[in-house]
Amino acid sequence: MIIRQALVNGRRMLEEYEIEDAPLEAEILLRDVLKKTRAELHLEFDSELSPHQYAAFRQLIRRRCRDEPTAYILGRREFYGRDFLVDNRVLVPRPETELLVEKAIEFARDYEAPLLADVGTGCGAVAIVLALELSESTVYATDVSADALTVARKNCRKHGVELSVRLLKGSLLDVLPEPVDIITANLPYVRKADLPQTGPVSTEPRLAIDGGFDGLEQIRQLCRQAGNKLNPHGHLLLEVGQGQAEAVTILLRGLFPMAQIQMVPDLSGIDRVISLSLP
Ligand SMILES: C[S@@+](CC[C@H](N)C(=O)[O-])C[C@H]1O[C@@H](n2cnc3c(N)ncnc32)[C@H](O)[C@@H]1O
Repeated sequence: MIIRQALVNGRRMLEEYEIEDAPLEAEILLRDVLKKTRAELHLEFDSELSPHQYAAFRQLIRRRCRDEPTAYILGRREFYGRDFLVDNRVLVPRPETELLVEKAIEFARDYEAPLLADVGTGCGAVAIVLALELSESTVYATDVSADALTVARKNCRKHGVELSVRLLKGSLLDVLPEPVDIITANLPYVRKADLPQTGPVSTEPRLAIDGGFDGLEQIRQLCRQAGNKLNPHGHLLLEVGQGQAEAVTILLRGLFPMAQIQMVPDLSGIDRVISLSLP
């Protein structure tokens, strides 16, 4: 079996199971088996695969056909230009969450040694990128899921930030030992009724996506706690789902009438991040 034919077979199988971007997915999985870059794979289209390599590739294709996200199959995901270990204990970091990081970095530039908290840290991607980008910072990273924190710990080690990222197990801001300058949170925000039963998202931890009745249960609770856990002039940055920005802004205006509140759109024009800056 040559590489070109293996790719065609893989693509066909994925298409049968209605997997989006089948040609690209097949290529990514084959590259993982062969440990080749895209360019190398394309230059070697007519090279032979060993039976063992082809069997391993088919095994990955079968997993993808069963709706397992590609990131879980590969065991990693890129976020903000860095590689993170992921598996089914954590949400796969999404590109739109990079906006949360960008805004946090923007605010953090006003501090010499900012103290941050990333709430619901999952695999730790947001907290770790912040620690790496802001060299004098300390980042508390909290999650209710001990499993998620195990993955986050591995990522902290991988990126050498064990000292600047402090992992804490507990709900929302309850476990924070002191007020901070900036809070980031990408909490679950899918409405219970909208939780997918099939597709890759259905294999991600419910705890990471289930936002309760209206999708805002955790976010609402966090907003109520934030006043006690932010320093004066502090900032709260929340990622929200499509159509939720206005409700969250109204809630924050009620809780913090003197604060500056901004909705920040993502690349698709969806208001994705709400930022609140205390006076
Ligand atoms: C949408 S995922 C985000 C993960 C990661 N921050 C990211 O952006 O990729 C939400 C995370 O919040 C955690 N979580 C859910 N409820 C929580 C709570 N009450 N307190 C702290 N973490 C919570 C979940 O375990 C999950 O890891």
